[in-house]
Amino acid sequence: MALDPAVRAALESALASAPDNAAVRIHLASLLADEDPAAALDHAARVLTDQPDDPQGLAIAARTARAVGEEQRAVAYERLLSALTSSAAPAPLPEPTPSPSPGPSPPGPREPLTAGDALEGEADIDAFLAEVLGSDPDIERSGLSGPPRVTLADVGGLDEVKRRLNTSFLGPMRNPELRKMYGKSLRGSLLLYGPPGCGKTFLARAVAGELGARFFGIGLHEVLDMWLGQSERNLHEVFQTARRQAPCVLFLDEVDALGLKRSHLERSAGRNVVVQLLSELDSARSDNEGVFVLGATNQPWDIDPALRRPGRFDRTLLVLPPDPPARQSILRYHLRDRPLGSVDLQRLAGRTEGFSGADLRLLCESAAESALEDSLQSGTTRPIHSGDFDRALREVSPSTRPWFDVARNYAMFANEGGAYDDLLAYMRRHKLA
Ligand SMILES: Nc1ncnc2c1ncn2[C@@H]1O[C@H](COP(=O)(O)OP(=O)(O)O)[C@@H](O)[C@H]1O
Ligand SMILES: [Mg+2]
Repeated sequence: MALDPAVRAALESALASAPDNAAVRIHLASLLADEDPAAALDHAARVLTDQPDDPQGLAIAARTARAVGEEQRAVAYERLLSALTSSAAPAPLPEPTPSPSPGPSPPGPREPLTAGDALEGEADIDAFLAEVLGSDPDIERSGLSGPPRVTLADVGGLDEVKRRLNTSFLGPMRNPELRKMYGKSLRGSLLLYGPPGCGKTFLARAVAGELGARFFGIGLHEVLDMWLGQSERNLHEVFQTARRQAPCVLFLDEVDALGLKRSHLERSAGRNVVVQLLSELDSARSDNEGVFVLGATNQPWDIDPALRRPGRFDRTLLVLPPDPPARQSILRYHLRDRPLGSVDLQRLAGRTEGFSGADLRLLCESAAESALEDSLQSGTTRPIHSGDFDRALREVSPSTRPWFDVARNYAMFANEGGAYDDLLAYMRRHKLA
């Protein structure tokens, strides 16, 4: 059910005059959780800075962090919440409360918990798997009531990447007959890389949307950070779970977390996980039949070279910033549920060279906010018009350039085996190299 914009506006203006009213903030966050998880997460996080043990805040934060793709953060909130519910008075329902009059938030335990408290102690592997694998919101809420799933059609641009995903994963998965005919073994791995915010994780969510239950996703930071000392076992369990569900796609996000250059990792701990991952990916393993591994990273040069050898992540796909037609479709996607006046999206696409998909999303949010502010002040609602985008363009700037500045060195001087040929070609075309 969509939130009435008038209700949202009323709650937002109540908060503008009483920013410390946690009950109102939580209420707004719960109403926004489905349709604007990023905003709901901001509200919940703000309440949690003052009251880190607020159970409703934690529940909403966990749900919305997951919805915006911040899996690691979601898991941390969930662990805090479950630590609270098992050690203290019964917690309230983690569901949003659609009642119009918010009550005060229920009392939590006396001692506020910190993330450290929640993460201590013997880790439970089943809980880990349930949290990390079984909880993709796009999969869980695939029923009629949930938000629509993301599918490949929602991903703007990236036609070549989509085509490759189709031939290597989606096609064979849907059509085992065809695969047999062409003798293509139902396994393999593919590494997506490119500047941040250009849709790697979003693409994986879209693949999940296409495949439903036959998709597992995990951020490698979780494997490494959450259960120190048990990372290898956790990683093995993740693969085992995927193998039991084959054919399926296993998505490993942030593969660079395993890079040797990450200083905050204990060298040996990280190395053990790399060794484990190598053995899980081993092409000689017969039990990997039907398990497609999709990896993603912003820093392919940080990945352990052993992981890039044949049979592992040897095939890579570059996920580039959107070109003008792709920018237009990304803008349209992020404006789909917003009241839009006469705005020339083609022209706007032309003015947003170097913007990532994430930048474009921010631009749309910023323009919508400016229209909302105006509506609140004038008391009448009006659609977003091009003036709002002029304002937004002064606030949001393209973010992809610094990535290319770093990538240039690797592409030009560490291009072993032509690994970065397509990156170099793109950079030359765009006068970035
Ligand atoms: N091609 C795209 N089409 C539509 N939205 C996009 C696209 N690329 C990025 N976005 C938006 O930006 C957000 C962040 O992108 P993300 O996939 O997390 O980037 P990456 O994983 O490459 O750093 C996405 O959740 C989505 O809202
Ligand atoms: Mg990502």
